[in-house]
Amino acid sequence: MRTHIVYANPTHTGLVAEVLDAFCAGLDEAGIEHTLSDLYAMGFNPVLSPEEFARESAFDVAAPVAEDVRAEQAKLNAADAWVFVYPVWWTDVPAILKGWFDRVWTVGYAYGPDHPETRWDEEVPADGPGIRIAQKVLVLCTAGHSERQLRETGCYQAMETTMLVDRIFTRARTKQFVVLGGGADMTRDEWVRARAQEIRQAHDLGRTLAAAAA
Ligand SMILES: Cc1cc2nc3c(=O)[nH]c(=O)nc-3n(C[C@H](O)[C@H](O)[C@H](O)COP(=O)(O)O)c2cc1C
Repeated sequence: MRTHIVYANPTHTGLVAEVLDAFCAGLDEAGIEHTLSDLYAMGFNPVLSPEEFARESAFDVAAPVAEDVRAEQAKLNAADAWVFVYPVWWTDVPAILKGWFDRVWTVGYAYGPDHPETRWDEEVPADGPGIRIAQKVLVLCTAGHSERQLRETGCYQAMETTMLVDRIFTRARTKQFVVLGGGADMTRDEWVRARAQEIRQAHDLGRTLAAAAA
């Protein structure tokens, strides 16, 4: 289960970074090969250019796709599982990851005029054309609020729908949305205990990723 991780966090500190490290340690324990797109560290450009906008708007699959976008698409096509790790910002992904979807989910790759669903299969080579369906997508994000609070306000459902129903859609066979964190709704002592548990959960999600996709 080759795994590609897309990490969207400005620093390598805090809960999100700990979650990433624990998750990767779990993958290592299970012997799962993994690659990483650390979007901030790569200086990934999240802004859809006028040329890219024109290509998408006209469903112009013949127009060129930028090198950095093709590189991201190839990394996904070379993996069986995709994992998105990020902090929740304003009930969504950080802007750099939103822009990653804007640019990487191109017509002719993630969708198309002649709907490429028919071409989505596991035989698609890493250089395309077309997306290779993932066995598993795991969205692993952290939030200030607890899952309970996010569910009460409907924010959890909104985020899950946006990520799994819209952005991933039928591009993966199995999909999972996990929100860790919740320190904002706890006392300091409660959070110290809960945080250790959250890190263990991230480790377990890595260790059991292949089983969870079966
Ligand atoms: C710009 C910004 C927006 C945020 N928006 C939300 C939000 O909408 N919901 C939420 O629960 N937490 C929100 N948070 C809190 C972060 O999700 C939280 O700090 C992070 O997941 C914890 O990781 P850290 O320790 O690395 O900061 C926001 C934080 C920032 C900086």
